[in-house]
Amino acid sequence: MTSAPGTSTETTFTRMDESTAEQWGVIVTETFAHQDRVAESVLTLLRSLAGITDGFAVDQLTHSLQTATLAERAGADDELVVAALCHDIGKAVSVPNHPRIAAEILRPYVSDEVYWTILVHQDFQGRHYYEHLGADPNARDQYRGHESYALAERFADEWDQRAFDPAYDTLPLEHFEERVRVVFASPRSL
Ligand SMILES: [Fe+2]
Repeated sequence: MTSAPGTSTETTFTRMDESTAEQWGVIVTETFAHQDRVAESVLTLLRSLAGITDGFAVDQLTHSLQTATLAERAGADDELVVAALCHDIGKAVSVPNHPRIAAEILRPYVSDEVYWTILVHQDFQGRHYYEHLGADPNARDQYRGHESYALAERFADEWDQRAFDPAYDTLPLEHFEERVRVVFASPRSL
């Protein structure tokens, strides 16, 4: 069996129960040194959303950019703008359960409030379309009293649900790229 590029079975372990603190020190250092690949992976996923339209008036990259543009123009801070950009990134893998995929990608890099807003965004968005699918348009009511309810409401009502307009002057991905790199550069948890 061959080793992955850049590793050697002579200098590191082949099973974790034989690992040492020194070897883990190397792994932590190497992982931290390559943190920038996270932002690049996120940007690659975002670009892939250009290939998903599925009956909407705009593709999912345009929808994501437009959501972020609306957030930025409403005065949202950089973390929230990046979260708005990434809120549907889960659709690159699976539309079912996409809010959780996006929220969990963002979780180490954003506040609890922003994480939760992305996690529940579909149920808040549902106010504007769930009735057409036989679901409860008041699904957001289950979260009444939550400390981040107001942000989730604003996110869905003022930005996300409005961001399907091909005529809107949506800002390009390049406008947001540097902020994506900054937000994903510093994880707050493992
Ligand atoms: Fe969305």
